[in-house]
Amino acid sequence: MRRARARARANIALAKYWGKADDARNLPAVPSVSITLDPLVTETIVTFDDALASDRFELDGEPAREAEVKRVTKLLDEVRAKAGISTRARVVSENHFPTAAGLASSASGFAALAGAAGLAAGLDETPAMLSARARRASASAARSIYGGFVELGAGGDDELSARQIAGPEHWDLRVVVAVTAEGRKAVGSRDAMGETRASSVYYPAWVDASKAIAPRVAAAIAARDIEALLPLVEQSFFAMHAVAMTASPSILYWQPGSVAALSTIRRMREAGVPVAPTMDAGPHVKAICLSDDADRIAAELAETDGVLRTIVARPGAGIELEKV
Ligand code: PMV
Repeated sequence: MRRARARARANIALAKYWGKADDARNLPAVPSVSITLDPLVTETIVTFDDALASDRFELDGEPAREAEVKRVTKLLDEVRAKAGISTRARVVSENHFPTAAGLASSASGFAALAGAAGLAAGLDETPAMLSARARRASASAARSIYGGFVELGAGGDDELSARQIAGPEHWDLRVVVAVTAEGRKAVGSRDAMGETRASSVYYPAWVDASKAIAPRVAAAIAARDIEALLPLVEQSFFAMHAVAMTASPSILYWQPGSVAALSTIRRMREAGVPVAPTMDAGPHVKAICLSDDADRIAAELAETDGVLRTIVARPGAGIELEKV
Protein backbone atom coordinates (compact mmCIF):
# COMPACT_ATOMS: atom_id res chain seq x y z
CA MET A 1 0.00 0.00 0.00
CA ARG A 2 1.17 3.49 -0.84
CA ARG A 3 -0.21 6.32 1.24
CA ALA A 4 0.27 10.08 1.60
CA ARG A 5 -1.42 12.92 3.43
CA ALA A 6 -1.92 16.52 2.33
CA ARG A 7 -3.23 19.60 4.06
CA ALA A 8 -4.45 22.47 1.89
CA ARG A 9 -6.34 25.66 2.67
CA ALA A 10 -9.35 27.33 1.08
CA ASN A 11 -8.82 30.61 -0.75
CA ILE A 12 -10.87 33.71 -1.45
CA ALA A 13 -10.56 35.45 -4.80
CA LEU A 14 -10.12 39.22 -4.66
CA ALA A 15 -10.20 39.30 -8.50
CA LYS A 16 -12.78 36.68 -9.41
CA TYR A 17 -12.62 33.82 -11.87
CA TRP A 18 -15.94 33.12 -13.61
CA GLY A 19 -16.21 31.47 -17.03
CA LYS A 20 -14.09 29.04 -19.01
CA ALA A 21 -11.95 29.55 -22.12
CA ASP A 22 -11.92 25.79 -22.72
CA ASP A 23 -14.38 23.43 -21.04
CA ALA A 24 -12.58 20.17 -21.78
CA ARG A 25 -9.27 21.39 -20.41
CA ASN A 26 -10.90 23.53 -17.71
CA LEU A 27 -9.00 26.69 -18.62
CA PRO A 28 -10.35 29.95 -17.15
CA ALA A 29 -11.50 32.74 -19.46
CA VAL A 30 -10.27 35.42 -17.03
CA PRO A 31 -7.31 35.84 -14.68
CA SER A 32 -7.89 35.74 -10.91
CA VAL A 33 -6.05 36.72 -7.73
CA SER A 34 -6.67 35.21 -4.28
CA ILE A 35 -5.61 34.90 -0.64
CA THR A 36 -5.05 31.41 0.78
CA LEU A 37 -6.84 31.25 4.13
CA ASP A 38 -6.11 30.00 7.60
CA PRO A 39 -7.83 28.30 9.43
CA LEU A 40 -9.89 26.81 6.59
CA VAL A 41 -7.92 23.57 6.15
CA THR A 42 -8.84 20.36 4.31
CA GLU A 43 -6.85 17.24 5.18
CA THR A 44 -6.84 14.37 2.69
CA ILE A 45 -5.24 10.90 2.86
CA VAL A 46 -4.86 8.90 -0.35
CA THR A 47 -4.05 5.19 -0.19
CA PHE A 48 -3.40 3.16 -3.33
CA ASP A 49 -4.49 -0.35 -2.33
CA ASP A 50 -4.32 -3.45 -4.56
CA ALA A 51 -7.25 -4.95 -2.66
CA LEU A 52 -9.67 -2.31 -4.01
CA ALA A 53 -11.80 -2.97 -7.10
CA SER A 54 -12.79 0.69 -7.47
CA ASP A 55 -11.89 4.10 -6.04
CA ARG A 56 -13.51 5.02 -2.70
CA PHE A 57 -14.05 8.56 -1.52
CA GLU A 58 -15.13 9.47 1.98
CA LEU A 59 -15.82 13.13 2.78
CA ASP A 60 -16.26 14.30 6.37
CA GLY A 61 -16.96 10.75 7.55
CA GLU A 62 -19.60 9.90 4.89
CA PRO A 63 -19.29 8.12 1.53
CA ALA A 64 -19.30 10.87 -1.12
CA ARG A 65 -22.02 11.15 -3.77
CA GLU A 66 -21.49 9.49 -7.14
CA ALA A 67 -20.78 12.72 -9.03
CA GLU A 68 -18.08 13.62 -6.50
CA VAL A 69 -16.48 10.15 -6.74
CA LYS A 70 -16.35 10.60 -10.54
CA ARG A 71 -14.44 13.88 -10.28
CA VAL A 72 -12.01 12.27 -7.82
CA THR A 73 -11.52 9.25 -10.10
CA LYS A 74 -10.79 11.55 -13.05
CA LEU A 75 -7.96 13.18 -11.10
CA LEU A 76 -6.70 9.80 -9.84
CA ASP A 77 -6.72 8.44 -13.43
CA GLU A 78 -4.35 11.26 -14.43
CA VAL A 79 -2.01 10.35 -11.57
CA ARG A 80 -2.18 6.62 -12.37
CA ALA A 81 -1.37 7.27 -16.04
CA LYS A 82 1.63 9.41 -15.09
CA ALA A 83 2.91 6.91 -12.49
CA GLY A 84 2.24 3.87 -14.71
CA ILE A 85 0.00 2.12 -12.19
CA SER A 86 -3.59 0.89 -12.26
CA THR A 87 -4.16 0.44 -8.52
CA ARG A 88 -7.41 1.90 -7.13
CA ALA A 89 -7.33 4.31 -4.22
CA ARG A 90 -9.14 5.11 -1.00
CA VAL A 91 -9.49 8.86 -0.47
CA VAL A 92 -10.44 10.11 3.00
CA SER A 93 -10.96 13.84 3.21
CA GLU A 94 -11.94 16.06 6.15
CA ASN A 95 -12.70 19.74 6.20
CA HIS A 96 -11.24 21.12 9.41
CA PHE A 97 -13.25 24.27 9.04
CA PRO A 98 -14.75 25.91 12.12
CA THR A 99 -17.89 23.95 12.97
CA ALA A 100 -20.39 23.92 10.11
CA ALA A 101 -18.90 27.03 8.54
CA GLY A 102 -21.01 26.50 5.43
CA LEU A 103 -17.84 27.04 3.45
CA ALA A 104 -16.86 23.55 2.33
CA SER A 105 -15.00 24.36 -0.80
CA SER A 106 -13.74 22.48 -3.81
CA ALA A 107 -10.55 24.57 -3.81
CA SER A 108 -8.92 23.17 -0.67
CA GLY A 109 -10.30 19.70 -1.42
CA PHE A 110 -8.92 19.35 -4.95
CA ALA A 111 -5.62 20.99 -4.00
CA ALA A 112 -5.13 18.48 -1.16
CA LEU A 113 -6.17 15.59 -3.42
CA ALA A 114 -3.82 16.65 -6.24
CA GLY A 115 -0.88 16.68 -3.81
CA ALA A 116 -1.67 13.56 -1.78
CA ALA A 117 -2.45 11.44 -4.86
CA GLY A 118 0.82 12.36 -6.60
CA LEU A 119 2.96 11.67 -3.54
CA ALA A 120 1.15 8.41 -2.71
CA ALA A 121 1.73 7.22 -6.30
CA GLY A 122 5.46 7.84 -5.85
CA LEU A 123 5.69 10.88 -8.15
CA ASP A 124 8.19 13.62 -7.39
CA GLU A 125 6.47 16.81 -8.55
CA THR A 126 6.87 20.57 -8.38
CA PRO A 127 4.17 22.83 -6.91
CA ALA A 128 3.43 24.03 -10.47
CA MET A 129 2.65 20.45 -11.53
CA LEU A 130 0.32 19.99 -8.54
CA SER A 131 -1.31 23.35 -9.28
CA ALA A 132 -1.99 22.39 -12.92
CA ARG A 133 -3.49 19.06 -11.82
CA ALA A 134 -5.69 20.76 -9.21
CA ARG A 135 -6.73 23.35 -11.83
CA ARG A 136 -7.89 20.67 -14.25
CA ALA A 137 -10.31 19.47 -11.51
CA SER A 138 -11.39 22.92 -10.21
CA ALA A 139 -9.69 26.10 -11.39
CA SER A 140 -9.84 27.85 -8.00
CA ALA A 141 -8.01 24.82 -6.51
CA ALA A 142 -4.90 25.70 -8.54
CA ARG A 143 -4.46 28.74 -6.27
CA SER A 144 -4.69 26.74 -2.99
CA ILE A 145 -1.41 24.92 -3.74
CA TYR A 146 0.39 28.15 -2.83
CA GLY A 147 0.26 30.14 0.40
CA GLY A 148 -0.36 33.84 0.81
CA PHE A 149 -1.31 35.86 -2.26
CA VAL A 150 -1.71 33.95 -5.52
CA GLU A 151 -2.64 34.60 -9.15
CA LEU A 152 -3.94 32.33 -11.88
CA GLY A 153 -3.81 33.41 -15.51
CA ALA A 154 -6.44 32.92 -18.23
CA GLY A 155 -6.39 30.61 -21.24
CA GLY A 156 -3.05 28.96 -21.85
CA ASP A 157 -2.49 25.23 -22.18
CA ASP A 158 -2.89 22.03 -20.22
CA GLU A 159 -0.03 22.94 -17.89
CA LEU A 160 -1.52 26.30 -16.80
CA SER A 161 -0.77 26.68 -13.08
CA ALA A 162 -1.12 29.39 -10.46
CA ARG A 163 1.78 31.52 -9.21
CA GLN A 164 2.54 33.06 -5.83
CA ILE A 165 2.62 36.87 -5.75
CA ALA A 166 3.76 37.04 -2.10
CA GLY A 167 3.87 34.79 0.97
CA PRO A 168 1.36 34.95 3.85
CA GLU A 169 3.66 37.18 5.91
CA HIS A 170 3.63 39.87 3.18
CA TRP A 171 0.45 41.62 4.37
CA ASP A 172 -1.63 41.12 7.51
CA LEU A 173 -5.04 41.33 5.82
CA ARG A 174 -8.13 39.71 7.30
CA VAL A 175 -11.15 38.10 5.72
CA VAL A 176 -14.23 38.25 7.95
CA VAL A 177 -16.67 35.60 6.76
CA ALA A 178 -20.36 36.22 7.48
CA VAL A 179 -22.11 32.86 7.22
CA THR A 180 -25.67 33.47 6.04
CA ALA A 181 -27.13 30.03 5.31
CA GLU A 182 -26.61 26.32 5.90
CA GLY A 183 -26.37 23.61 3.30
CA ARG A 184 -25.21 23.29 -0.28
CA LYS A 185 -25.48 25.90 -3.02
CA ALA A 186 -28.30 25.46 -5.53
CA VAL A 187 -26.31 25.66 -8.78
CA GLY A 188 -22.73 24.34 -8.85
CA SER A 189 -20.17 26.79 -10.22
CA ARG A 190 -19.34 24.69 -13.30
CA ASP A 191 -22.91 24.68 -14.68
CA ALA A 192 -23.48 28.26 -13.59
CA MET A 193 -20.42 29.50 -15.49
CA GLY A 194 -21.52 27.66 -18.62
CA GLU A 195 -25.00 29.17 -18.42
CA THR A 196 -23.52 32.62 -17.87
CA ARG A 197 -21.27 32.42 -20.92
CA ALA A 198 -24.11 31.05 -23.05
CA SER A 199 -26.77 33.58 -22.10
CA SER A 200 -25.65 36.77 -20.32
CA VAL A 201 -25.50 39.83 -22.57
CA TYR A 202 -22.77 41.15 -20.26
CA TYR A 203 -20.41 38.17 -20.60
CA PRO A 204 -17.97 39.78 -23.11
CA ALA A 205 -17.83 42.92 -20.95
CA TRP A 206 -17.13 40.79 -17.86
CA VAL A 207 -14.21 39.06 -19.59
CA ASP A 208 -12.73 42.40 -20.73
CA ALA A 209 -13.18 44.03 -17.32
CA SER A 210 -11.61 41.09 -15.48
CA LYS A 211 -8.51 41.18 -17.66
CA ALA A 212 -8.03 44.80 -16.61
CA ILE A 213 -8.89 44.35 -12.90
CA ALA A 214 -6.74 41.29 -12.03
CA PRO A 215 -3.32 42.87 -12.74
CA ARG A 216 -4.34 45.98 -10.79
CA VAL A 217 -5.33 43.78 -7.82
CA ALA A 218 -1.96 42.01 -8.01
CA ALA A 219 -0.17 45.37 -8.09
CA ALA A 220 -2.16 46.72 -5.10
CA ILE A 221 -1.23 43.58 -3.14
CA ALA A 222 2.45 43.88 -4.08
CA ALA A 223 2.40 47.53 -2.90
CA ARG A 224 0.25 46.76 0.20
CA ASP A 225 -2.02 49.56 -0.96
CA ILE A 226 -5.38 49.05 0.80
CA GLU A 227 -7.00 52.16 -0.73
CA ALA A 228 -6.19 50.90 -4.23
CA LEU A 229 -7.19 47.31 -3.44
CA LEU A 230 -10.63 47.70 -1.87
CA PRO A 231 -12.52 49.37 -4.77
CA LEU A 232 -11.10 46.74 -7.15
CA VAL A 233 -12.24 43.90 -4.87
CA GLU A 234 -15.73 45.36 -4.75
CA GLN A 235 -15.84 45.93 -8.50
CA SER A 236 -14.68 42.40 -9.37
CA PHE A 237 -17.23 40.89 -6.98
CA PHE A 238 -20.20 42.92 -8.21
CA ALA A 239 -19.23 42.39 -11.85
CA MET A 240 -19.05 38.61 -11.35
CA HIS A 241 -22.43 38.47 -9.62
CA ALA A 242 -23.98 40.88 -12.13
CA VAL A 243 -22.93 38.73 -15.06
CA ALA A 244 -24.31 35.62 -13.31
CA MET A 245 -27.57 37.38 -12.40
CA THR A 246 -28.07 38.41 -16.02
CA ALA A 247 -27.79 34.84 -17.31
CA SER A 248 -31.08 33.41 -18.54
CA PRO A 249 -32.39 31.84 -16.37
CA SER A 250 -30.80 34.13 -13.81
CA ILE A 251 -28.23 32.77 -11.33
CA LEU A 252 -28.69 34.50 -7.99
CA TYR A 253 -26.63 33.41 -4.97
CA TRP A 254 -27.76 36.20 -2.68
CA GLN A 255 -30.03 35.58 0.30
CA PRO A 256 -31.64 38.24 2.51
CA GLY A 257 -28.77 37.79 4.99
CA SER A 258 -26.25 38.41 2.19
CA VAL A 259 -27.88 41.74 1.28
CA ALA A 260 -28.03 42.75 4.95
CA ALA A 261 -24.33 41.91 5.41
CA LEU A 262 -23.45 43.89 2.27
CA SER A 263 -25.21 46.93 3.68
CA THR A 264 -23.44 46.58 7.04
CA ILE A 265 -20.11 46.61 5.19
CA ARG A 266 -21.16 49.61 3.10
CA ARG A 267 -22.25 51.52 6.24
CA MET A 268 -18.86 50.85 7.90
CA ARG A 269 -17.02 51.85 4.75
CA GLU A 270 -18.96 55.12 4.64
CA ALA A 271 -18.03 55.69 8.29
CA GLY A 272 -14.37 55.52 7.26
CA VAL A 273 -13.44 51.87 7.93
CA PRO A 274 -11.33 50.46 5.07
CA VAL A 275 -13.35 47.39 4.10
CA ALA A 276 -14.79 45.86 0.91
CA PRO A 277 -17.16 42.93 0.37
CA THR A 278 -16.82 39.88 -1.82
CA MET A 279 -18.90 36.72 -2.37
CA ASP A 280 -18.34 33.45 -4.21
CA ALA A 281 -20.88 31.07 -5.73
CA GLY A 282 -22.88 30.97 -2.52
CA PRO A 283 -24.72 33.23 -0.05
CA HIS A 284 -21.89 34.02 2.39
CA VAL A 285 -20.34 37.47 2.47
CA LYS A 286 -16.64 38.04 3.08
CA ALA A 287 -15.31 41.39 4.28
CA ILE A 288 -11.72 42.17 3.24
CA CYS A 289 -10.00 44.44 5.77
CA LEU A 290 -6.89 45.21 7.81
CA SER A 291 -6.15 43.18 10.96
CA ASP A 292 -6.81 46.15 13.29
CA ASP A 293 -10.40 46.48 12.06
CA ALA A 294 -11.31 42.77 11.86
CA ASP A 295 -12.85 42.42 15.34
CA ARG A 296 -15.22 45.36 15.07
CA ILE A 297 -16.27 44.36 11.55
CA ALA A 298 -16.92 40.82 12.81
CA ALA A 299 -18.93 42.23 15.74
CA GLU A 300 -21.13 44.39 13.44
CA LEU A 301 -21.65 41.53 11.00
CA ALA A 302 -22.58 39.15 13.84
CA GLU A 303 -25.32 41.65 14.85
CA THR A 304 -26.69 41.81 11.30
CA ASP A 305 -30.08 40.16 10.57
CA GLY A 306 -29.61 36.84 8.77
CA VAL A 307 -25.94 36.43 9.68
CA LEU A 308 -25.62 33.12 11.54
CA ARG A 309 -21.99 33.46 12.65
CA THR A 310 -18.68 34.95 11.64
CA ILE A 311 -15.18 33.55 11.15
CA VAL A 312 -12.05 35.68 10.94
CA ALA A 313 -9.54 34.22 8.48
CA ARG A 314 -6.01 35.36 7.65
CA PRO A 315 -3.38 34.63 4.97
CA GLY A 316 -2.23 31.02 5.34
CA ALA A 317 0.39 28.61 4.06
CA GLY A 318 0.44 26.55 0.88
CA ILE A 319 0.01 22.78 0.64
CA GLU A 320 1.75 20.56 3.21
CA LEU A 321 2.57 17.00 2.11
CA GLU A 322 3.89 13.90 3.84
CA LYS A 323 4.11 10.16 3.31
CA VAL A 324 2.27 8.29 6.07
O1 PMV B 1 -13.07 26.51 -9.11
P1 PMV B 1 -14.55 26.59 -9.17
O2 PMV B 1 -15.12 25.91 -10.37
O3 PMV B 1 -15.19 26.08 -7.89
O4 PMV B 1 -14.96 28.15 -9.33
C1 PMV B 1 -15.05 29.03 -8.26
C2 PMV B 1 -15.24 30.42 -8.74
C3 PMV B 1 -15.42 31.44 -7.62
O5 PMV B 1 -15.18 30.88 -6.35
C4 PMV B 1 -16.85 31.98 -7.62
C5 PMV B 1 -14.47 32.62 -7.86
C6 PMV B 1 -13.04 32.31 -7.64
O6 PMV B 1 -12.22 32.87 -8.39
O7 PMV B 1 -12.71 31.56 -6.71
